[in-house]
Amino acid sequence: MASSTLICNTEPWKDLKAHVEEIKKTHLRDLMNDTERCKSMMVEFDELFLDYSRQCAQKDTLDKLLELAEAAQLKQKINRMFNGEHINSTEDRSVLHVALRAPRDKVISSDGKNVVPEVWKVLDKINEFSERFRSGSWVGETGKALTDVVAVGIGGSFLGPLFVHTALQTDPEAIASAKGRQLRFLANVDPIDVARSITGLNPETTLVVVVSKTFTTAETMLNARTLREWISSALGPQAVAKHMVAVSTNLTLVEKFGIDPKNAFAFWDWVGGRYSVCSAVGVLPLSLQYGFSVVEKFLKGASSIDEHFYSTQFDKNLPVLLGLLSVWNVSFLGYPARAILPYCQALEKFAPHIQQVSMESNGKGVSIDGVPLPFEAGEIDFGEPGTNGQHSFYQLIHQGRIIPCDFIGVAKSQQPVYLKGEMVSNHDELMSNFFAQPDALAYGKTPEQLLSEKVPKHLIPHKTFSGNRPSISLLLPHLNAYTVGQLLAIYEHRVAVEGFLWGINSFDQWGVELGKSLATQVRKQLNASRTKGDPIEGFNYSTATVMTKYLE
Ligand code: F6P
Repeated sequence: MASSTLICNTEPWKDLKAHVEEIKKTHLRDLMNDTERCKSMMVEFDELFLDYSRQCAQKDTLDKLLELAEAAQLKQKINRMFNGEHINSTEDRSVLHVALRAPRDKVISSDGKNVVPEVWKVLDKINEFSERFRSGSWVGETGKALTDVVAVGIGGSFLGPLFVHTALQTDPEAIASAKGRQLRFLANVDPIDVARSITGLNPETTLVVVVSKTFTTAETMLNARTLREWISSALGPQAVAKHMVAVSTNLTLVEKFGIDPKNAFAFWDWVGGRYSVCSAVGVLPLSLQYGFSVVEKFLKGASSIDEHFYSTQFDKNLPVLLGLLSVWNVSFLGYPARAILPYCQALEKFAPHIQQVSMESNGKGVSIDGVPLPFEAGEIDFGEPGTNGQHSFYQLIHQGRIIPCDFIGVAKSQQPVYLKGEMVSNHDELMSNFFAQPDALAYGKTPEQLLSEKVPKHLIPHKTFSGNRPSISLLLPHLNAYTVGQLLAIYEHRVAVEGFLWGINSFDQWGVELGKSLATQVRKQLNASRTKGDPIEGFNYSTATVMTKYLE
């Protein structure tokens, strides 16, 4: 692609740039008075309700963004993804995480082959294995049934499953099916994480699931060797066969590691790591904990959004609208960050997961054809559940930098509490904040209001809120396996939409390689210095000095 075909050189992009000046003349305080405008900025699908009226946008902003979508060939790109074309061009791969949750009878092809039967072959194997595991017919080395699982993996082989597990942990249906079981995760190579993951567990009743797409990731492999040692030193080396299974695309390395390939659950190179939670990466550990039927509901939820994303016109399409608005905020209004603020403690691991999905996907400096981008792509994602975040970083969001916020609320709590004598239930108390915060950000508070409240003059600058700070509100009917799947898929596709609009490859991650290869050099040096006393060589003064201190 020549630089002339970069999205920023198209007419709709230039038009939006010019439109910013118009929008800058408006304030959400006034825009929110226009009921018709607000009505037009609300979308409902399958009981999910999105209100984006608190975006610094007018109805014509949306029209212009839709023109941008056309210029970026968004529809064609979505179709190419669903059709299994090799849209991850730098790795020459299809991008088919949608096939992971497709119904059995769906046809989705990669390289001329329908992949859905393969997907279901693995799902059926997981169903059967988790049934044996949960019923106690799969026993450990000492004949005891296994109750606990440690999933070893990092990045995409960890964050998604952790998010879903955390979301389900307090769901009544999931609780009932997880009775007497524990699911833990081991991601960090830090030995402290090893200790945390196994403290209180008995190797006799524990299954270790090693999750790694490549089966080469340094952290995961060291952690896997550490837990293999934990099992074999307690139960003998032969116990590995009954206490360790694997999820990977690299079954040769799984076998080399000492795990029977019969106990390995495959996935495919058309599943990107950060998009792999619906593959065996997430489905296996979650099924061991909650049973396959619960996890199947999660897959169905994700699939419902895939269908919606694929077939719904753009102005009613949740991931498309969210993606367009993100690009508006980042590339036109110049707000590089986004706060993900679920008013639901069960979603506490949602922001860390989306951080990886979004930042590893769209943190790119060149177009898909390798042309340096003359604009910044990607956004900085972070977040915490409300109300905790309110007592942490919201100060900056209200009076410091402008950070578009995603408020995510749930109509019915998984764990309702009604205290006698209280004005509202605990969940209503939580949700009072969910409703109040977006308005506080949008409206702010003027010096005039403060004066009328008789605030002392010298405090007025400190107590003024400029407002006009954008947010979206997404209301889920409840949080269960199905809606967790929906939420996941909305955000996955939103990230893809952003990448499609920016014209980048959202499905590779070359930026993680340099640090990995430098760590390899350091590892060799540490080994040579510790075992043979070799001096530190080949590093700059700064690194060599700190390494020397460390070795001392
Ligand atoms: O952080 C880079 C990365 O390659 C991620 O994309 C991936 O999810 C993670 O490492 C783990 O990789 P693997 O599943 O191959 O161990």
